[in-house]
Amino acid sequence: MRQQYRAAGLAETDLPATPVEQFARWFKQAASEAHLFEPNAMVVSTANAEGRPSSRTVLLKQFDEQGFVFFTNYNSRKGRDLAENPYVSLLFPWHQMARQVIVQGIARRTGRDETAAYFRTRPHGSQLGAWASEQSAVISTRADLDASYAELAARYPEGEQVPVPPNWGGFRVAPQSVEFWQGRENRLHDRLRYVIEPDGSWRVERLSP
Ligand SMILES: Cc1cc2nc3c(=O)[nH]c(=O)nc-3n(C[C@H](O)[C@H](O)[C@H](O)COP(=O)(O)O)c2cc1C
Repeated sequence: MRQQYRAAGLAETDLPATPVEQFARWFKQAASEAHLFEPNAMVVSTANAEGRPSSRTVLLKQFDEQGFVFFTNYNSRKGRDLAENPYVSLLFPWHQMARQVIVQGIARRTGRDETAAYFRTRPHGSQLGAWASEQSAVISTRADLDASYAELAARYPEGEQVPVPPNWGGFRVAPQSVEFWQGRENRLHDRLRYVIEPDGSWRVERLSP
């Protein structure tokens, strides 16, 4: 399968008008042709106000022309970074297809209604986990975490609605550039990058591999 994608390559004439449409095509192939495990797993890189970078894997939960959405704790390291500096990079490492997609853009918090709607789709245990974990904080023992979860489970038994934690929610990354990388023979890979124009339209440029 990797050979097939390598041989086909990626040409300018293959591309639709917007990177989100192109992402949708590749995402569909990743999920239903290549059957990748968690094709929505992406590496999110942020940098704080001093320019210190950090990266972690997060699951993409939704995408459309407005942007790429993930959910997290706003007080986590990434949440704090994004409050100081909203520039973010998302990387989808689809190695089995000899592909990667790199999105660069600006992250904004989703509205509370949107966050609440998504939170309610989460399993009860994950909802409790979002309350139990002060994501990215140093904790003394695993037992403290389990005790915090048990306390919450007693307060909100299965079937009872768990409120949305105030410091938990989504980020929507509005893309400013999106690179589609297709591995090819002899290291002559295809790299096509959509870049946003001031009027909101997209220009495509080819990068040297
Ligand atoms: C496959 C995978 C999916 C993950 N999905 C999420 C997610 O959707 N949201 C999240 O906050 N953390 C997710 N994590 C955990 C993060 O990688 C990370 O540990 C956590 O968000 C804290 O990161 P930070 O301290 O850099 O903010 C995921 C980890 C893995 C390995």
